[in-house]
Amino acid sequence: MNATAPRAATRLVWSVPVRLLHWTLALSMIASFVTHEGGGALHEWTGYVALAAALLRVAMGLFGSGLWRFSGFVRGLRATRDYALAIWRRRERHYVGHNPLGAWMVLALLADAVATGFTGWLYTTDRFWGVAWVEELHGALGHALVPLLALHVAGVVFTSLRQRENLVASMLHGRKRVESPADGSRAET
Ligand code: HEM
Ligand code: HEM
Repeated sequence: MNATAPRAATRLVWSVPVRLLHWTLALSMIASFVTHEGGGALHEWTGYVALAAALLRVAMGLFGSGLWRFSGFVRGLRATRDYALAIWRRRERHYVGHNPLGAWMVLALLADAVATGFTGWLYTTDRFWGVAWVEELHGALGHALVPLLALHVAGVVFTSLRQRENLVASMLHGRKRVESPADGSRAET
C-alpha cells in the first residue's frame, strides 16, 4: 500500500444510541430464537427486551431526527428499483446512511420483531393462552427471523465487499466513509 496515499475521509454516522439499540435488538432477537423451545421465563424476558428495543426504534423512526427518521432514508419503490438496477450494472451510489434496499430490510426486521414480540405477549394473556392460532402465528413470525436475518447479513456483507467498506465495523465504531458532500444521504445523525 502507498504510505503517502490520502486516507478516505470518514464521518461519525451511527451515534452511540443507534449502535446500542442495534446490538441490543440483534442480540435479544437471536437469544429469543435460541431459547424458544417451550417458551419459558428466559425466552419471555429476552423477547420483552427485543420488543422494547424494536418499539423504541420504531418510535425514533417516526418522531426522531436525522438518521433515526424513516422518512430520511426509506425511498419509494421506483428509487429502490433504480438502486437494484444500478447494483446490477455495478453503478450504485455509496450511501452514508442506509441504502434503499437496506432501508426496506430494516423495516422488515423491525416489523417482524414487533409482531413476534406482540404475539408472544398475547399468548401469555389469560384470554389467548392455549389458543392455537396465536401460538402458530407467534411461531411463524419467530421462525421468519431466520431468512430475514440471513438476507440482512448477506446484504451487509455484499455491500461491504462492493463498497470496500466494513459495514459491521461501522456499526461498532460508528464511522463511515464520505465520498462527496451529499453522498446519497439526506440525513445525518
Ligand atoms: C436479529 C438480528 C438483527 C436485527 C433485528 C437487526 C436489525 C437492524 C436494524 C433495525 C438496523 C437499522 C439500524 C438503525 O438505523 O437504527 C440494522 C442495521 C445494520 N445491521 Fe443489523 N440486525 C440484526 C443483526 C445483525 C448482525 C448479526 C449484523 C452483523 C453481521 C448486523 C449488521 C448491521 C449493519 C452493518 C447495519 C447498518 C447497515 C448500513 O450500513 O446501512 N445486524 N440492523
Ligand atoms: C421478539 C422475539 C421473539 C422470538 C424471535 C420468539 C420466537 C419464538 C419461537 C420460534 C417459538 C416456537 C414456536 C413453535 O415452535 O411453534 C416461540 C414460542 C414461545 N414464545 Fe416466543 N419469541 C419472541 C418473543 C416472545 C415473547 C415477548 C413472549 C412472551 C412474553 C414469548 C412467549 C413464547 C411462548 C410462551 C412460547 C411457547 C409456545 C408453546 O409452544 O407453547 N415469545 N417463540
